[in-house]
Amino acid sequence: MKTFTRGGSAMPALGLGTWQLTGSACERTVRAALDLGYRHLDTAQMYGNEAEVGRALAASGVPRDDVFVTTKVWMDRLGRADVLRSTADSLRALGTGWIDLLLIHWPNPRIPLAETLGAMAELKAAGTVRQIGVSNFPVALVRQAVEEVGAELFCDQVEYHPLLSQRPLLGELRRHGMVLTAYSPLAHGAIPREPTVARIAAKHGRTAAQVAIAWLLAQDNVAAIPKALSESHLRANLEAADLTLDADDLKAMDALQGGTRTCDPGWSPRWDT
Ligand SMILES: NC(=O)c1ccc[n+]([C@@H]2O[C@H](COP(=O)([O-])OP(=O)(O)OC[C@H]3O[C@@H](n4cnc5c(N)ncnc54)[C@H](OP(=O)(O)O)[C@@H]3O)[C@@H](O)[C@H]2O)c1
Repeated sequence: MKTFTRGGSAMPALGLGTWQLTGSACERTVRAALDLGYRHLDTAQMYGNEAEVGRALAASGVPRDDVFVTTKVWMDRLGRADVLRSTADSLRALGTGWIDLLLIHWPNPRIPLAETLGAMAELKAAGTVRQIGVSNFPVALVRQAVEEVGAELFCDQVEYHPLLSQRPLLGELRRHGMVLTAYSPLAHGAIPREPTVARIAAKHGRTAAQVAIAWLLAQDNVAAIPKALSESHLRANLEAADLTLDADDLKAMDALQGGTRTCDPGWSPRWDT
């Protein structure tokens, strides 16, 4: 499995998304994923499942050092004191000793970016979090964070899949040595119905979901965090990391990229594409 490394941290390119997984179903799913070999878990304060994710990790017996855990600070907690307090709450809920990657979940124009990133840098200096990053940041905000504020960011987590182009943002992130972590990599479940992806999948004797994940992981600086509940989906998504697409497949997949967004709440920033 490809990993992205920076300053002693190593994030596997494929992780498990946990949005909409709650309670015992979340705990069971995360445990099943760890048993299958997942070593990268994505949660958030807003998902209400940090405690379940942490419990599943503790019960799995997988050494803490072997698993990369991401969580995200919600957008109404981006003032300095709120960042520090809510991250302490996250850490208590997770029970993981440290957070591998802490993200700003959504930008909030009412709170100065330098204040939020400054608080996150304090947490990094203290060792509470090992890497910091952002989510749902378009090119202009990434530039502001890196070039004006001077933040050292590990990644930008954004929606990315075969039906949504992220070309300008991906170029910008590569320029800064940052990872684009693709959320909703299966277009929140729509990918299996896409005919071109299904055709390529049939050619390889694989599924459309696997082709979408393989296409993402074939790209430089791109990680993916599909969410799955069933063990068969969990397994299939992990096995997608071993699927190699040929030049014709990649060309056909690249040609699909349009503007289909599945996550676009009213507070979204102005997107690049
Ligand atoms: N930063 C943000 O603002 C943000 C926003 C959205 C999402 N995310 C993160 O990204 C993660 C993934 O995104 P998502 O949950 O929106 O959607 P997704 O991963 O694109 O799609 C999940 C859906 O695809 C199905 N699925 C999974 N594996 C499959 C397979 N191999 N074959 C067929 N169907 C399959 C799942 O079904 P089953 O569950 O029944 O297996 C589920 O219905 C989230 O869980 C979250 O961690 C972050």
